[in-house]
Amino acid sequence: KRKLILDVDTGIDDAIGIILAVKSREFDLLGITTVNGNVSLDQATDNTLKVLDLLGETNLSVIKGADAPLIRPHFFEHGVHGEDGLGGELKDILPSRPAEEGFAPDFIINSILNFPHEVTLVMTGPLTNLALAIKKCPQIVHYVKEVIFMGGVVKGPGNVTPTAEFNMVVDPEAVKIVLHAGFTDITQVGLDVTRHAILKEAHIHAIENPVIRQYIDNSTAQYRKRYFKRNGVDGCAMHDPLAVAVAIDQSLVKTEDFYVDVETRSELCDGQLVCDFQNRLEQDRNLSVCTEVDEAAFLRLFHSIVSS
Ligand code: BDR
Ligand code: CA
Repeated sequence: KRKLILDVDTGIDDAIGIILAVKSREFDLLGITTVNGNVSLDQATDNTLKVLDLLGETNLSVIKGADAPLIRPHFFEHGVHGEDGLGGELKDILPSRPAEEGFAPDFIINSILNFPHEVTLVMTGPLTNLALAIKKCPQIVHYVKEVIFMGGVVKGPGNVTPTAEFNMVVDPEAVKIVLHAGFTDITQVGLDVTRHAILKEAHIHAIENPVIRQYIDNSTAQYRKRYFKRNGVDGCAMHDPLAVAVAIDQSLVKTEDFYVDVETRSELCDGQLVCDFQNRLEQDRNLSVCTEVDEAAFLRLFHSIVSS
């Protein structure tokens, strides 16, 4: 089994990504690391633990990481994910256990060094933990197997500012560190494709596992309404679950390699990914960009995993 670390800022779609990663049984999940993002670090950690409780996964390591972006103030997303970050669904429940001792960037470093060329990192929140890990131990870029992150958009509008996507906007300095770290196998799963991975009510009702069906139905109820209002699409984008799904089956997406940088010093465009489609800057390509997704195949994979 492939060794995986999932790094999350557990909001509604991160939670569904966790469900996919745990239930797929594809991975040897070394741990789930948490980061400030959609909600505070403590809330993201509690949410992660609660989702694992729901799945009966009470032994999986959960390790807390950065409680703020590298240099910027917090930028929460309660408007999308609700006060508690999970659309209110588990708000009256307490997690059955606390997070483990330790700090996520150290956990990431140690795992990569203990299992050279074996660890896949899937990041579905701001990239703060990975940036801190790179700063502390730059060699990890040579020893990680691959990095897959959800974030950014290379063609089309952002979802927080006119040009930028949430995970990039929260901590653009972290994105810059990650993009320039020298990873040889790093894939971006951006809005370009996640906007075409839409979960609709009918897909939710078709889920055979009643606990998961009810959880996803309730936790995404407001999220789907908001998505419809904003985008005119009946359903909601499975941003983070698609990143996990790409780790399970790379053939769900088409990718192309480009040189990509991120804006960090603009009044209007901070967090925007700038993709050098025509190699104007004559730089080496540093990112595999997902350009197309097979939505039907994604939904089939999703259904088969969450139904079990
Ligand atoms: C990303 O932003 C967050 O709100 C979601 O959890 C996802 O990771 C989508 O832009
Ligand atoms: Ca997320």
